[in-house]
Amino acid sequence: MIYKELSKTGEKLSSIGIGTWQLGKNPPEEIRAIKVAIENGVNFVDTAEIYGSEPIVNKAIKGAKNIFIATKVWPAHFHYDDVIRACDKSLKNLGVKQIDLYQLHWPNKFIPIEETMRAMESLVKSGKIRYVGVSNFDKTQLIAAQNAMKKEEIVSDQVEYSLMVRGPEEELLPYCKKQKISVIAYSPLGHGKLFMGRYKKLFDLLSKVGKDYRKTAAQIALNWLISKKEVFAIPKASSVKHAMENAGATSFKLKLKDSIAIDIASRKHKKKSLKDTVNLPLYFLLFLKRF
Ligand SMILES: NC(=O)c1ccc[n+]([C@@H]2O[C@H](COP(=O)([O-])OP(=O)(O)OC[C@H]3O[C@@H](n4cnc5c(N)ncnc54)[C@H](OP(=O)(O)O)[C@@H]3O)[C@@H](O)[C@H]2O)c1
Repeated sequence: MIYKELSKTGEKLSSIGIGTWQLGKNPPEEIRAIKVAIENGVNFVDTAEIYGSEPIVNKAIKGAKNIFIATKVWPAHFHYDDVIRACDKSLKNLGVKQIDLYQLHWPNKFIPIEETMRAMESLVKSGKIRYVGVSNFDKTQLIAAQNAMKKEEIVSDQVEYSLMVRGPEEELLPYCKKQKISVIAYSPLGHGKLFMGRYKKLFDLLSKVGKDYRKTAAQIALNWLISKKEVFAIPKASSVKHAMENAGATSFKLKLKDSIAIDIASRKHKKKSLKDTVNLPLYFLLFLKRF
């Protein structure tokens, strides 16, 4: 496993973390999958209050040492008191005294960012969280969130980033690289679409390249992402097989010629921007999911 520093924190996180959205269909197998990932060097788990998977993470990390836990507060909870209440709830669900990384799940233009960031800073001060992160923030929103804080620094932005969605490369990645803010790539396997025929040409190339390294298409796709210094990837795996496979995605370095071939094959997805990935049903949900 390759470990990287999260922003400038000194924390060494596995470059492949564990995503936990849509867990809950088969909790015993999902818990085993997380445990196996941890046994294989993964030390970073991502969840969110909205996923309902915090209690599964709680069970899966029991007995494991030094696991870095990232969770998120839902935008409907961005008023000061709601942020504090959501955090308390997540601490309870996760069975921990402190959350390592607390992230704003999506921007919410209806609540002043200053109010939300004040709450995030007070959570750091009270020791309930260690680091502040954001998710689905474009460069402008990220800068506004940073400017709204007095003392703390934003350590990460979690955004959709994969060979199928390369929009963040235009503005966000260069900015984060310069500022040493980590980028956490969600849906790094295209939410599974990489394997469903829609991206057959790309999948075939990844499989072909993989043969030389004795790696699968998924491992090549993940390796390509985490070969960028500031990028972590958090694939979700609900089976032991996938969890093991994903944990094995860092133990090799792609040759330049392969990296370039993959880059060219996926270049047409470069334009897809953060805004393209925002879907309306989600915005609808922003206001429905209150305590
Ligand atoms: N911040 C946000 O707004 C946001 C949004 C979406 C996701 N996320 C985070 O990012 C995580 C990952 O994203 P995601 O769940 O959307 O999609 P993903 O990780 O890109 O893809 C997950 C899909 O790929 C399959 N898979 C996993 N490993 C595989 C492998 N080695 N070979 C073949 N198939 C494999 C999974 O199947 P199985 O489940 O059967 O293993 C699942 O169907 C989420 O769980 C969540 O933590 C964050």
